[in-house]
Amino acid sequence: MRIGILGAGGMADALGTQWARAGHTVMISGRDAGRSTARADKMRAEARRTLPTQASAPQASAPQASAPQTSSAQMAGGAGGVVVAGEADVRAGTWAEAARFGEVVMVAVREAGLVDVLQAAGASMRGKPVIDVTNAAAPDRYDPTRPIARLIRDLTGGHVVKAFNLCHVDVWRMTPPVFGGRPLAVPLCGDDPAAMDTARTLVADLGCTPLNGGGLDRAMQLEATAAFVIGLWFGGADAQAILPPLASSGTHGQG
Ligand SMILES: NC(=O)c1ccc[n+]([C@@H]2O[C@H](COP(=O)([O-])OP(=O)(O)OC[C@H]3O[C@@H](n4cnc5c(N)ncnc54)[C@H](OP(=O)(O)O)[C@@H]3O)[C@@H](O)[C@H]2O)c1
Repeated sequence: MRIGILGAGGMADALGTQWARAGHTVMISGRDAGRSTARADKMRAEARRTLPTQASAPQASAPQASAPQTSSAQMAGGAGGVVVAGEADVRAGTWAEAARFGEVVMVAVREAGLVDVLQAAGASMRGKPVIDVTNAAAPDRYDPTRPIARLIRDLTGGHVVKAFNLCHVDVWRMTPPVFGGRPLAVPLCGDDPAAMDTARTLVADLGCTPLNGGGLDRAMQLEATAAFVIGLWFGGADAQAILPPLASSGTHGQG
């Protein structure tokens, strides 16, 4: 699929490279055309250098295009797991070009520039899946009365899905992100079923497990969670240690 990314920084690089490697065509965008083009060139080279081979491709035993956890590589590869990743294409454009280009658009800019960028991106995100990875500028600067995801929905008219905001950019460079033998679960909050399906595919393309986090009204909880755990990490605490496993969570989630 064509993925437009508003952003040419770390998150655009990490996730865009993964998706290019999985066979998507990616356009990133930033404030400086030369810098964005250099970044796109680097991403394309990295994605092509690390294209999955038949031996390392995910094995798809029963590929179904509509299955929520089916990755693009699996869909392209069929039962044999042979990845047809195309040319791993990454290019750069303006904010408006990336917004127009994407069948899905990811918003990956600093909060300080968010409104300006969305205004420059124009109206072409209306009705499209919009993946929102943004967090507050700092943990103590998050304002739960002004959810970022809702602002993005209001300014774009897109079908916003909040995702990928809980983990550091280096996690999104891992192939795949697996901790203690368990693939990383990625919570998704959004209202539109088709946009949620698109987000699930993009999560599966990383080798992660999509997790339904509820509607867009719950995106502010994801944003607040990010602010909270980032605050713990900044303080040197192991934020992963604060939650018990499902088996020790009472009756919740066992129905
Ligand atoms: N880094 C992480 O670990 C991480 C993890 C989860 C979520 N996030 C969130 O993802 C978003 C992108 O993070 P990132 O790590 O990719 O940031 P980054 O590397 O600093 O890149 C920021 C991007 O925002 C653009 N931008 C537009 N207006 C800006 C302004 N006024 N000030 C600063 N940048 C501006 C930059 O444009 P130029 O390309 O022209 O510089 C750049 O493309 C942020 O909202 C962040 O909170 C980050």
